[in-house]
Amino acid sequence: MLEQSYYDKADEIIAEHGKQQAALIPIIQDIQSEYRYLPPELLSYVAEKLGINEAKAYSVATFYENFSFEPKGKYIIKVCDGTACHVRKSIPILERLYSELGLSHEKATTDDMMFTLETVSCLGACGLAPVLTVNDKVYPAMTPDAAAELIRELRGA
Ligand code: FES
Repeated sequence: MLEQSYYDKADEIIAEHGKQQAALIPIIQDIQSEYRYLPPELLSYVAEKLGINEAKAYSVATFYENFSFEPKGKYIIKVCDGTACHVRKSIPILERLYSELGLSHEKATTDDMMFTLETVSCLGACGLAPVLTVNDKVYPAMTPDAAAELIRELRGA
């Protein structure tokens, strides 16, 4: 069960966008940027308020990959494992980050909610490979050591 404050915030966001059905995506985008994820309870709530069938709202949200139904960390790290980055050794970077953060393929977010670690198939910056991003800021030509150092900096930030 979500706290009432989440529903109050959703009401506020719905009021800003209006209750027309076309507002569904902007509303759930705002909810996600507020909480860094889209709580499924709020998706149902918004769907009901906009008069949209819940299953349809759910399929819209799952169609767009950038919606997440799981809480994410303050820093979202995306390690590129597209071809250019892979051949320039992105996997050792990913493995170093897994071990620095105590994460794995099964566990993407640290318990303190500071870091979420994901892989992506290309960040569109192949000339800078291997690349990772932290909250959409690009870090080019990474190495395992540089990635570990970056984590230390972010922890201190
Ligand atoms: S393959 Fe990594 S940025 Fe394109």
